Amino acid sequence: MLSIGYTLIKNRANSDRLKRGTIPTSACKNRTFAPENSQLPGKFSGNQKNMHVTILAIESSCDDTSAAIIRDGNVLSNCVASQEMHEQYGGVVPEVASRAHQANIIPVVDLAIRKAGIHKNELSAVAFTRGPGLLGSLLVGTSFAKAFALSFNLPLIEVNHMQAHVLAHFAELPHPRFPFLCLTVSGGHTQIIRVTDHLEMEVLGETLDDAAGEAFDKAGKMLGLGYPAGPLIDKHARSGQARFPFPEPAVPGLNFSFSGLKTAIMYFLRDQTKEQKNFIEENLADLCASIQYAIVTILIKKLRKAARQTGIREIAIAGGVSANSGLRQAVESMGEKEGWTTYVPRFEYCTDNAAMIGITAYYKYLRQEFCGQEVAPYARGFAN
Ligand code: KG4
Ligand code: ZN
Repeated sequence: MLSIGYTLIKNRANSDRLKRGTIPTSACKNRTFAPENSQLPGKFSGNQKNMHVTILAIESSCDDTSAAIIRDGNVLSNCVASQEMHEQYGGVVPEVASRAHQANIIPVVDLAIRKAGIHKNELSAVAFTRGPGLLGSLLVGTSFAKAFALSFNLPLIEVNHMQAHVLAHFAELPHPRFPFLCLTVSGGHTQIIRVTDHLEMEVLGETLDDAAGEAFDKAGKMLGLGYPAGPLIDKHARSGQARFPFPEPAVPGLNFSFSGLKTAIMYFLRDQTKEQKNFIEENLADLCASIQYAIVTILIKKLRKAARQTGIREIAIAGGVSANSGLRQAVESMGEKEGWTTYVPRFEYCTDNAAMIGITAYYKYLRQEFCGQEVAPYARGFAN
């Protein structure tokens, strides 16, 4: 682990946000790219550069600056600089995040290249997260990727962050078999996605208000926990009992809602602390276990409904909240009951990382889906 300034860079390899409907494979499909003095990418014969598909991937959609090197669909390095200064503000401050990305991006890319043991001239393409995310943060990664591609005469690949969370499952074996369902749960999104091919996905259901990660973070804030509260709730829940019942929302279809749960927790804590001043401190573990149980129950019941409706038994989870131990256990045990084959990613592929951007870019590369220098990042949904 290498520390630079106020951030931590971790190499996570070597050792060890969308709308209902079909997810487009690319905002600028089938664009061909012919770098000067080189062969078209994708024609894998000829010079050494084109023997392998080697991609530099950059992720900067929120508060993690990450760079990865992917060769022929395998992760050679995956480095992440986490911005821990947001904790003092109780959430991500967009302007602070953008500035930290600017400070981190060059050391992180440099480390990813060194850890991968490659030289820059072996690269076949540069990939970046185009959206959804914080615009200022995305701009840093996008601008860096464009400048890098321009100076090394490489094609550019733009990647949708939520699609990449799903394809994080292809970073390691075993891969889910198509078609599979993916419950994608992060700080900004909660979706059930039917995945029919690497780049063909359909959102079957999504949250109507808060995302699951947001529910964890907001509940944690009410308990006086730091940001992001999801991992802290997870930690305290391990020594607690889920003995405080919170209501389950009645949302039709495969959609989710977490705003009612948030309000219920708020009123419950208000009433209890009126009677007993130290209620939160004295019951922290049980409160965390109860909140986690409530969120996981909402998620798992909808996932079961989707599996029964579609008849699909290949079931995956993805996104930051898929690091939650309660959700991981619940998916495994529901899988045993329902006859699913379940896919739970390793922790480093749950939260934001550039390896998932590179894996997605690899499949886009195989389809020659490149983009031009004119592409702009987008904060929500996807670009058309
Ligand atoms: O995917 P991610 O890293 O970033 C976004 O794309 O949003 O997800 C971040 C979210 C945060 O809300 C964080 O609290 C949550 O994932 N999270 C967890 C856990 N680890 C991260 N939530 C519950 N339990 C965890 N262990
Ligand atoms: Zn994410």
